[in-house]
Amino acid sequence: MKNDFINIALPKGRLGDNVYEMFSMAGYRCPELENPGRKLVFENHDSGIRYFWVKPSDVAIYVEKGAADIGVAGKDILLEYRPDIYELLDVGLGKCRMAVAAPKNFRDDPRKTLRVATKFPNVAKMHYSKFGRDIEIIKLNGSIELAPILGLSDVIVDIVETGATLRQNNLEVYETLFEISARLIANKSSYRFKGEKIKQIQDGLAAVKGAKND
Ligand code: PRP
Repeated sequence: MKNDFINIALPKGRLGDNVYEMFSMAGYRCPELENPGRKLVFENHDSGIRYFWVKPSDVAIYVEKGAADIGVAGKDILLEYRPDIYELLDVGLGKCRMAVAAPKNFRDDPRKTLRVATKFPNVAKMHYSKFGRDIEIIKLNGSIELAPILGLSDVIVDIVETGATLRQNNLEVYETLFEISARLIANKSSYRFKGEKIKQIQDGLAAVKGAKND
């Protein structure tokens, strides 16, 4: 692939659609991407950019390894995988929070190992290690809310956006760990060698974000 292009990893799904809209408002439209079919890579030769859709949780690895120069990833993913990248901008999309949630009558019994179901084992371990709390991680890949309902875990560590999933399953937030939003990230060596163009994109996105907040 041609080297002077800026390769951009977009998170597939609703967040990615909104992220692409910000890029296009910043002047980086890619008409090819708007009628994708089964294609995965989209180029705009005039502006020298190349987009590709990846699983949201894979954006950070594409950027860390340099397969993408920049990308947009959730703060949850960055805190879970701790990739060696630069975080350039909070794009202000994908806002939600990481929380411990539990059945409504849950009381933590410190004498027992706490069973924690989660897609984010490192985030969960980091949180409980602050208190020296003895936990057992149950790593799941989705539908985390099922675990306490079926007695597989005592609590979950998961993303809460509207809170509807918790409410409809008789669970509630026990404690909030941190706020989440999507971040523009860059590969460290790309930032050195293609810094000027990356900075232009960063400034363009910051201006679109500013205009949206006005
Ligand atoms: C996420 C998260 C919660 C839900 C929270 O799941 O894991 O289940 O969204 O959103 P809410 O607070 O608006 O209800 P996702 O939809 O990504 O699917 P998953 O269960 O497969 O992880």
